[in-house]
Amino acid sequence: MKTFTAATINAPASLKHAGLMRWVAEIATLTQPAAIHWADGSEAEYDRLCGEMVDSGMFIKLNPALRPNSYLACSDPTDVARVEDRTFICSKRREDAGPTNNWQDPAEMTATLRGLFKGCMAGRTLYVIPFSMGPLGSPIAHIGVELSDSPYVVVNMRTMTRMGSAALDVLGSDGHFVPCVHSVGAPLAEGEKDSRWPCNRSTKYIVHFPETREIWSYGSGYGGNALLGKKCFALRIASNMARDEGWLAEHMLILGVESPEGEKTYVAAAFPSACGKTKFAMLIPPRSFDGWKISTVGDDIAWIKPGKDGRLYAINPEAGFFGVAPGTSEKTNFNALATLKENVIFTNVALTDDGDVWWEGMTKEPPAHLIDWTGQDWTPDIAKATGRKAAHPNSRFTAPARQCPSIDPDWENPAGVPISAFIFGGRRATTVPLVYEAFNWNSGVYMAATLGSETTAAAVGEQGIVRRDPFAMLPFCGYHIGDYFNHWLKMGRAIAAKPRIFCVNWFRMNERGEFMWPGFGENMRVLKWMVERVRGRAGAKETDLGWIPEYDDIDWSGSDVTRADYEPLTAVDVAAWHTELQQHADWFASMGSAVPKQLDLKRELLGLRLQRDGAR
Ligand code: OXD
Ligand code: MN
Repeated sequence: MKTFTAATINAPASLKHAGLMRWVAEIATLTQPAAIHWADGSEAEYDRLCGEMVDSGMFIKLNPALRPNSYLACSDPTDVARVEDRTFICSKRREDAGPTNNWQDPAEMTATLRGLFKGCMAGRTLYVIPFSMGPLGSPIAHIGVELSDSPYVVVNMRTMTRMGSAALDVLGSDGHFVPCVHSVGAPLAEGEKDSRWPCNRSTKYIVHFPETREIWSYGSGYGGNALLGKKCFALRIASNMARDEGWLAEHMLILGVESPEGEKTYVAAAFPSACGKTKFAMLIPPRSFDGWKISTVGDDIAWIKPGKDGRLYAINPEAGFFGVAPGTSEKTNFNALATLKENVIFTNVALTDDGDVWWEGMTKEPPAHLIDWTGQDWTPDIAKATGRKAAHPNSRFTAPARQCPSIDPDWENPAGVPISAFIFGGRRATTVPLVYEAFNWNSGVYMAATLGSETTAAAVGEQGIVRRDPFAMLPFCGYHIGDYFNHWLKMGRAIAAKPRIFCVNWFRMNERGEFMWPGFGENMRVLKWMVERVRGRAGAKETDLGWIPEYDDIDWSGSDVTRADYEPLTAVDVAAWHTELQQHADWFASMGSAVPKQLDLKRELLGLRLQRDGAR
């Protein structure tokens, strides 16, 4: 066994951070890599690592004439998504992790991890990946250092974060960093040939220690399991930091709305997965909204801190988009497609015969022949006969945010952008109106805490299965979800200029099972109403749920949505809401006593209002 010291970890000569050097030496001694490389984040390093992965078979270089400087990786079929059942929050006390997280005793988990990581990087290079979540040096940003044996992680982290020497410079000689240890869990014996996508097929652990702010990930090389700055740091660990320090780490997109007069309003919006967050963040207004512009600050995560002026300011801690490919087309998200023109890493999409990529929904007609994500021939006939998808449903693109045509000029402003409204949305075929504004902060927190989303689109007359996904944070809140609700209530008391809170549902269906709302760019009409509400310029009617726009409160220019179409979209179905409230009560009961009393009171109040109106 080799013992590494500060002198033998290959650290850059300029590095002065003794704590970082000690930690790297300790992890190297545990994991026994063949070499150590400190990622500098340069283009030359990126090109070299991508070239090495092309040589090893992990990457396919795409046709530079069609998709310059872009690559395709296809993973092991057992390593295709975040593994929520293998994700752990190891707080000292079980009750601090709460009922929505897997918990294990930190001492026991540490012993398990020590066993797994012992010698696990044999034959591989340990990459030291310093990164900043948020613009370098921003008072809202934080530094992490990931130690990983995967070059795929290094190049993805370069796109998704501010990675390399500049992050080390911010750290200085004694700056704080979140230590993130990652291994694909596939040591190589002397002379053993590596697999195309190394991972550990049987053992995976994605572990968070909230008290010591540490992350350990073993066995997977994919997405959120391996790019530890994203869900592990920016949400699960950061939600703990945010609770302790009085800010918010949220699963939210951030967008700007600019009026023809140049008035700018920023909103942050939380939607569970597969509810169109990236599309909403890059929305293109309908043609009739001449002069209105939407700009994108982020599509997945927001870190939000109180400013001196009593407002909340948000940054996107990420520098890239790690978006779901299937369903993304020029029609559904023009700006995303434009972002993907070059410098992209695709994972688990299909390869075209001319060396480009394709996925279901990218074009109306599929190509006549492809190599699918599993490496097999794929044709529309094969797909018909076998049901085999060309791209994995969770296939992804990793693309620099700066390439997005709608990127906001202030997206890297270290001070963040001021947030005027929070929007919460789920996929609900029934019950939840197109839009409503909460009466006040606490009512909004109640609606977000009980946010639900259907697992499938409902057929005629049927309802999908509603999964509660509070604040769209169910898999990402790194502590007791009841305490998290309380933190939101506390933030409301602490902020002088509270953002308004809105709920939306683009997915309400009629009795024939058809979506009643056209969605996509038409969402601009609802967004404009919200902005006008914030500015005190739009009307609404009071309902049991909150303020709902009347037909005439919405800008319908260029639209064929009629008054008759609109009524059922915004109707409050009292009977359905009684059932809904019962489900909310059951949901809160499942969380035990940590749910704040104020939220129970909100439910009771809403129940009384509905009863009164039902009896009328
Ligand atoms: C994501 C997710 O990858 O929410 O963004 O799963
Ligand atoms: Mn997400």
